[in-house]
Amino acid sequence: MTTLERADIESIEFGGHNGDITRVRGYQNYNVSDSHIKALENPTALRPWVDTEVKSKFFTDIFNDISPKRYVDFGCNLGYYVFLGSIANVDSVGIDYNLEYISVCNAIKARHKLKATFKHTNLENWHAEDDNSYDLLTVFNVIHHLYNRTEQYKNMDRLVHDFAMKSATVLFEFPTERDKKGHKWTMDTDYSQDLFESSLTNQFSMWKKIPGQTEERPYYLCNA
Ligand SMILES: C[S@@+](CC[C@H](N)C(=O)[O-])C[C@H]1O[C@@H](n2cnc3c(N)ncnc32)[C@H](O)[C@@H]1O
Repeated sequence: MTTLERADIESIEFGGHNGDITRVRGYQNYNVSDSHIKALENPTALRPWVDTEVKSKFFTDIFNDISPKRYVDFGCNLGYYVFLGSIANVDSVGIDYNLEYISVCNAIKARHKLKATFKHTNLENWHAEDDNSYDLLTVFNVIHHLYNRTEQYKNMDRLVHDFAMKSATVLFEFPTERDKKGHKWTMDTDYSQDLFESSLTNQFSMWKKIPGQTEERPYYLCNA
Protein backbone atom coordinates (compact mmCIF):
# COMPACT_ATOMS: atom_id res chain seq x y z
CA MET A 1 0.00 0.00 0.00
CA THR A 2 1.60 3.28 -1.07
CA THR A 3 1.41 6.06 1.51
CA LEU A 4 1.12 9.49 -0.09
CA GLU A 5 2.45 11.55 2.77
CA ARG A 6 4.40 11.10 5.99
CA ALA A 7 2.39 10.63 9.15
CA ASP A 8 1.77 13.88 11.07
CA ILE A 9 3.54 12.88 14.28
CA GLU A 10 5.31 15.59 16.29
CA SER A 11 6.43 13.53 19.28
CA ILE A 12 5.58 10.42 21.28
CA GLU A 13 7.03 10.73 24.78
CA PHE A 14 7.00 7.45 26.70
CA GLY A 15 8.88 8.92 29.69
CA GLY A 16 11.42 6.22 30.50
CA HIS A 17 11.01 2.87 32.22
CA ASN A 18 8.82 4.22 35.03
CA GLY A 19 6.88 6.79 32.97
CA ASP A 20 3.18 6.23 33.64
CA ILE A 21 1.89 8.63 31.01
CA THR A 22 2.55 8.67 27.27
CA ARG A 23 2.27 12.09 25.65
CA VAL A 24 1.11 11.96 22.04
CA ARG A 25 1.48 15.11 19.92
CA GLY A 26 0.67 15.51 16.23
CA TYR A 27 -2.56 15.48 14.25
CA GLN A 28 -4.20 14.11 17.42
CA ASN A 29 -3.09 15.38 20.83
CA TYR A 30 -3.60 13.40 24.01
CA ASN A 31 -2.09 11.88 27.14
CA VAL A 32 -2.69 8.22 27.92
CA SER A 33 -1.91 5.91 30.85
CA ASP A 34 -2.88 2.28 31.56
CA SER A 35 -6.35 3.35 32.67
CA HIS A 36 -6.98 6.95 31.56
CA ILE A 37 -6.94 9.01 28.39
CA LYS A 38 -7.17 12.79 28.12
CA ALA A 39 -7.69 14.74 24.91
CA LEU A 40 -5.85 18.07 24.67
CA GLU A 41 -6.58 21.33 22.98
CA ASN A 42 -4.36 21.90 19.93
CA PRO A 43 -1.08 22.97 21.51
CA THR A 44 0.06 24.97 18.46
CA ALA A 45 -1.50 27.00 15.69
CA LEU A 46 -0.01 24.52 13.19
CA ARG A 47 -3.24 22.57 12.87
CA PRO A 48 -6.16 25.03 13.01
CA TRP A 49 -8.53 22.50 11.45
CA VAL A 50 -8.65 20.09 14.36
CA ASP A 51 -8.95 20.24 18.09
CA THR A 52 -8.83 16.81 19.72
CA GLU A 53 -10.41 18.12 22.94
CA VAL A 54 -13.49 19.66 21.26
CA LYS A 55 -13.96 16.71 18.91
CA SER A 56 -13.56 14.26 21.78
CA LYS A 57 -16.34 15.92 23.78
CA PHE A 58 -18.67 15.61 20.78
CA PHE A 59 -17.60 11.99 20.16
CA THR A 60 -17.92 10.93 23.82
CA ASP A 61 -21.54 12.11 24.06
CA ILE A 62 -22.51 10.04 21.00
CA PHE A 63 -20.34 7.08 22.07
CA ASN A 64 -22.00 6.99 25.53
CA ASP A 65 -25.44 7.35 24.01
CA ILE A 66 -24.93 4.40 21.62
CA SER A 67 -22.95 2.28 24.14
CA PRO A 68 -21.44 0.06 21.42
CA LYS A 69 -20.18 -3.44 22.17
CA ARG A 70 -17.95 -3.35 19.06
CA TYR A 71 -16.46 -0.08 17.82
CA VAL A 72 -14.23 0.67 14.81
CA ASP A 73 -12.52 3.92 13.78
CA PHE A 74 -11.59 4.17 10.09
CA GLY A 75 -8.57 6.45 9.47
CA CYS A 76 -7.64 6.00 13.14
CA ASN A 77 -4.47 8.12 12.93
CA LEU A 78 -2.71 8.21 16.33
CA GLY A 79 -5.40 6.03 17.89
CA TYR A 80 -7.12 8.46 20.25
CA TYR A 81 -10.72 7.26 19.66
CA VAL A 82 -9.71 3.58 19.65
CA PHE A 83 -7.89 3.87 22.99
CA LEU A 84 -10.81 5.80 24.46
CA GLY A 85 -13.08 2.90 23.47
CA SER A 86 -10.69 0.29 24.80
CA ILE A 87 -10.28 2.07 28.18
CA ALA A 88 -14.11 2.08 28.39
CA ASN A 89 -13.92 -1.75 27.99
CA VAL A 90 -15.40 -1.72 24.50
CA ASP A 91 -14.00 -4.09 21.86
CA SER A 92 -12.23 -1.42 19.73
CA VAL A 93 -10.54 -1.56 16.34
CA GLY A 94 -8.54 1.08 14.44
CA ILE A 95 -7.89 1.07 10.70
CA ASP A 96 -5.32 3.14 8.82
CA TYR A 97 -3.48 2.75 5.52
CA ASN A 98 -0.39 4.50 6.90
CA LEU A 99 1.95 1.99 8.56
CA GLU A 100 3.64 4.73 10.60
CA TYR A 101 0.38 5.40 12.46
CA ILE A 102 -0.36 1.70 12.94
CA SER A 103 3.17 1.09 14.33
CA VAL A 104 2.90 3.96 16.82
CA CYS A 105 -0.58 2.80 17.92
CA ASN A 106 0.74 -0.72 18.50
CA ALA A 107 3.68 0.64 20.55
CA ILE A 108 1.30 2.69 22.76
CA LYS A 109 -0.99 -0.32 23.09
CA ALA A 110 1.93 -2.54 24.23
CA ARG A 111 3.29 0.09 26.61
CA HIS A 112 -0.02 0.42 28.46
CA LYS A 113 -1.27 -3.16 28.01
CA LEU A 114 -4.44 -1.89 26.35
CA LYS A 115 -6.82 -4.19 24.52
CA ALA A 116 -7.32 -2.88 20.99
CA THR A 117 -6.75 -4.11 17.45
CA PHE A 118 -5.05 -2.07 14.74
CA LYS A 119 -5.34 -3.08 11.11
CA HIS A 120 -3.11 -1.84 8.32
CA THR A 121 -5.50 -1.68 5.39
CA ASN A 122 -7.63 0.62 3.22
CA LEU A 123 -11.37 0.69 2.48
CA GLU A 124 -11.27 -1.35 -0.70
CA ASN A 125 -9.40 -4.20 1.04
CA TRP A 126 -11.35 -3.94 4.31
CA HIS A 127 -14.62 -4.04 2.34
CA ALA A 128 -13.65 -7.49 1.01
CA GLU A 129 -13.04 -8.81 4.56
CA ASP A 130 -15.78 -10.55 6.51
CA ASP A 131 -15.64 -7.94 9.30
CA ASN A 132 -19.11 -6.45 9.36
CA SER A 133 -20.69 -6.68 12.76
CA TYR A 134 -19.85 -3.36 14.41
CA ASP A 135 -22.29 -1.29 16.46
CA LEU A 136 -20.47 1.98 15.77
CA LEU A 137 -18.10 3.07 13.00
CA THR A 138 -16.50 6.52 12.92
CA VAL A 139 -15.15 8.05 9.71
CA PHE A 140 -13.63 11.37 10.73
CA ASN A 141 -12.14 13.62 8.06
CA VAL A 142 -11.07 10.90 5.67
CA ILE A 143 -13.87 10.38 3.13
CA HIS A 144 -12.49 13.06 0.74
CA HIS A 145 -9.17 11.17 0.65
CA LEU A 146 -10.88 7.97 -0.47
CA TYR A 147 -12.81 9.64 -3.25
CA ASN A 148 -9.79 10.56 -5.36
CA ARG A 149 -6.50 10.55 -3.48
CA THR A 150 -5.42 7.62 -1.35
CA GLU A 151 -8.11 5.55 -3.10
CA GLN A 152 -9.97 6.02 -6.34
CA TYR A 153 -13.62 5.47 -5.49
CA LYS A 154 -15.05 8.38 -7.56
CA ASN A 155 -18.47 6.88 -6.95
CA MET A 156 -20.16 8.20 -3.82
CA ASP A 157 -22.85 5.47 -3.67
CA ARG A 158 -20.23 2.72 -3.72
CA LEU A 159 -18.06 4.54 -1.20
CA VAL A 160 -20.90 5.11 1.27
CA HIS A 161 -22.16 1.55 0.70
CA ASP A 162 -18.76 0.08 1.66
CA PHE A 163 -19.03 1.81 5.04
CA ALA A 164 -22.78 1.22 5.51
CA MET A 165 -22.39 -2.57 5.32
CA LYS A 166 -19.89 -2.60 8.21
CA SER A 167 -21.87 -1.19 11.10
CA ALA A 168 -25.36 -0.52 12.50
CA THR A 169 -24.44 3.13 13.13
CA VAL A 170 -21.94 5.22 11.18
CA LEU A 171 -20.76 8.67 12.27
CA PHE A 172 -19.09 10.65 9.45
CA GLU A 173 -17.26 13.96 9.62
CA PHE A 174 -17.62 15.17 6.04
CA PRO A 175 -15.38 17.88 4.55
CA THR A 176 -17.56 19.51 1.89
CA GLU A 177 -16.31 20.61 -1.54
CA ARG A 178 -16.05 24.15 -0.05
CA ASP A 179 -13.70 23.03 2.77
CA LYS A 180 -10.07 23.92 1.91
CA LYS A 181 -8.79 20.32 2.11
CA GLY A 182 -12.01 18.83 0.72
CA HIS A 183 -11.67 21.13 -2.28
CA LYS A 184 -7.95 20.51 -2.72
CA TRP A 185 -8.26 16.75 -3.11
CA THR A 186 -11.54 16.53 -5.01
CA MET A 187 -11.83 19.60 -7.25
CA ASP A 188 -11.48 17.66 -10.50
CA THR A 189 -14.32 15.31 -9.59
CA ASP A 190 -18.07 15.45 -8.92
CA TYR A 191 -17.54 15.09 -5.13
CA SER A 192 -20.08 17.26 -3.31
CA GLN A 193 -22.15 17.48 -0.16
CA ASP A 194 -25.35 17.04 -2.24
CA LEU A 195 -23.98 13.82 -3.72
CA PHE A 196 -22.97 12.60 -0.25
CA GLU A 197 -26.41 13.34 1.24
CA SER A 198 -28.20 11.59 -1.62
CA SER A 199 -25.96 8.53 -1.11
CA LEU A 200 -26.81 8.54 2.60
CA THR A 201 -30.50 8.47 1.67
CA ASN A 202 -29.83 5.52 -0.66
CA GLN A 203 -27.75 3.52 1.83
CA PHE A 204 -29.22 4.21 5.30
CA SER A 205 -32.75 4.12 6.70
CA MET A 206 -32.11 7.31 8.74
CA TRP A 207 -29.50 10.03 8.91
CA LYS A 208 -29.14 13.45 10.47
CA LYS A 209 -26.71 16.30 10.01
CA ILE A 210 -24.98 17.77 13.09
CA PRO A 211 -22.87 20.98 13.09
CA GLY A 212 -19.12 20.36 13.20
CA GLN A 213 -16.03 22.32 14.26
CA THR A 214 -16.37 24.42 11.10
CA GLU A 215 -19.37 25.05 8.87
CA GLU A 216 -17.75 23.04 6.08
CA ARG A 217 -17.00 19.96 8.24
CA PRO A 218 -20.42 18.81 9.47
CA TYR A 219 -21.08 15.43 11.06
CA TYR A 220 -23.66 12.91 9.85
CA LEU A 221 -25.07 10.29 12.21
CA CYS A 222 -26.49 7.41 10.13
CA ASN A 223 -28.44 4.27 11.00
CA ALA A 224 -28.78 1.12 8.91
C1 LIG B 1 -7.10 13.91 8.13
S1 LIG B 1 -6.61 12.50 9.02
C2 LIG B 1 -7.96 12.26 10.17
C3 LIG B 1 -7.56 11.43 11.36
C4 LIG B 1 -8.65 11.05 12.35
N1 LIG B 1 -9.71 10.31 11.70
C5 LIG B 1 -9.20 12.26 13.06
O1 LIG B 1 -10.15 12.88 12.57
O2 LIG B 1 -8.65 12.63 14.10
C6 LIG B 1 -6.90 11.20 7.83
C7 LIG B 1 -6.48 9.84 8.33
O3 LIG B 1 -6.97 8.86 7.41
C8 LIG B 1 -5.92 7.99 7.02
N2 LIG B 1 -6.22 7.54 5.65
C9 LIG B 1 -6.17 8.26 4.51
N3 LIG B 1 -6.52 7.50 3.45
C10 LIG B 1 -6.82 6.27 3.95
C11 LIG B 1 -7.24 5.06 3.34
N4 LIG B 1 -7.41 4.97 2.02
N5 LIG B 1 -7.46 3.99 4.11
C12 LIG B 1 -7.28 4.07 5.47
N6 LIG B 1 -6.86 5.20 6.11
C13 LIG B 1 -6.64 6.29 5.35
C14 LIG B 1 -4.66 8.83 7.15
O4 LIG B 1 -3.49 8.04 7.26
C15 LIG B 1 -4.97 9.65 8.40
O5 LIG B 1 -4.65 8.96 9.58
